[in-house]
Amino acid sequence: MDYDQHFQGTLAALRAEGRYRTFATLARIAGEFPAARYYDPATGAARRITVWCSNDYLGMGQHPAVIEATCRAVREDGAGAGGTRNIAGTNRHHIALETELASLHRKQAALLFSSGYMSNEATLSTLAKLLPGCVIFSDALNHASMIEGMRHAGCERRIFRHNDVAHLAELLAMTEPGRPKIIAFESVYSMDGDFAPIPAIVELAERHDALTYLDEVHAVGLYGPEGAGVAARDGVMDRITVVEGTLAKAFGVTGGYIASLSSLVDAVRSFAPGFIFSTSLPPGVAAGATASVRTLRASPELRERHQERAALVKSRLRAIRVPVMPSEAHIVPVMVGDAALCKRASDLLLERHAIYVQPINYPTVPRGTERLRITPTPFHDDAAVEGLVAAMGDVWGRLNLPRGAV
Ligand SMILES: Cc1ncc(COP(=O)(O)O)c(C=O)c1O
Repeated sequence: MDYDQHFQGTLAALRAEGRYRTFATLARIAGEFPAARYYDPATGAARRITVWCSNDYLGMGQHPAVIEATCRAVREDGAGAGGTRNIAGTNRHHIALETELASLHRKQAALLFSSGYMSNEATLSTLAKLLPGCVIFSDALNHASMIEGMRHAGCERRIFRHNDVAHLAELLAMTEPGRPKIIAFESVYSMDGDFAPIPAIVELAERHDALTYLDEVHAVGLYGPEGAGVAARDGVMDRITVVEGTLAKAFGVTGGYIASLSSLVDAVRSFAPGFIFSTSLPPGVAAGATASVRTLRASPELRERHQERAALVKSRLRAIRVPVMPSEAHIVPVMVGDAALCKRASDLLLERHAIYVQPINYPTVPRGTERLRITPTPFHDDAAVEGLVAAMGDVWGRLNLPRGAV
């Protein structure tokens, strides 16, 4: 077989659909968030741009306290952890971070993973294997990492329509009462910016004796009085069995975690291959993340400014009939509906306006719903917002893109 030709052909098909992924090479400029340098792929020349699609939602990746804690831990403990958690890789900074995360979510224990993806994959697959006869009820729009975890679990899976509590109730009612059940869902769906009806799902779970598994990846640091997430904001965090989160978005670093009952966390620690067989997070990352969590627990003003900026961007774009989708959260998805046009819009924003917004294509979103996903932060000032609005107006006009209602 001509392997080279085979892979070239696969990529050609992707290109023909307009959804071949190109990565923008950036240098982030610590202290000047959300500015960055962009390296032109043809010439290698760098120019200054404004990033409008980062998941470092609050700029914590460049917060002085986070940088200082990271550098200090690297100087004191070195660059790497030195092993898996079981073999010389459990560092004091991991323990401090797990203690902080358990406290943030008011749970008995927390457990770190190398990413949010891994925490979902490892935890869901392991929990379901440890519960004989388990059925998982999964929201139709759950993230790929949860879907992979459920697939590896090999148990029965029932998909409920996105955020549809009545459908979930129907599926639960059809299930034998004695079987172990997990309801897996997210608090903020990051491509649409909508919230799950968490209190209603918790009610149902309690009625049917189901365990709740809530992915708060796009909510930790951002919602609730201390940034513990939407379940905390909605007053139901104590009724969620497992909270899963990332350190890579609002906390600005990297890594993932779960927080839950000690017994459940200990079982995942003891049985999950994705936890057991992977080198633990570098101590500097763990120390930086702890500083970030502590800082954000005490920074409601950053969360308020974040929400205010997101609301401003939505209303300013809607005023010029750029079709902002009905997002309730801090994410501003703008519908384009075509993969090639979405890429073209993103290219024009970068070339003509020094604004970087990555196109979002299938399989991240369904075909025909390709979009730009804008993420305002507290550090996008009024001038940056007006610059974005003018640039989007220009690009929408040039490409004659679909308009929204005012
Ligand atoms: C809902 C959701 N869960 C989990 C993840 C994975 O988190 P991480 O980026 O830390 O691997 C993501 C990543 O974008 C996500 O959107």
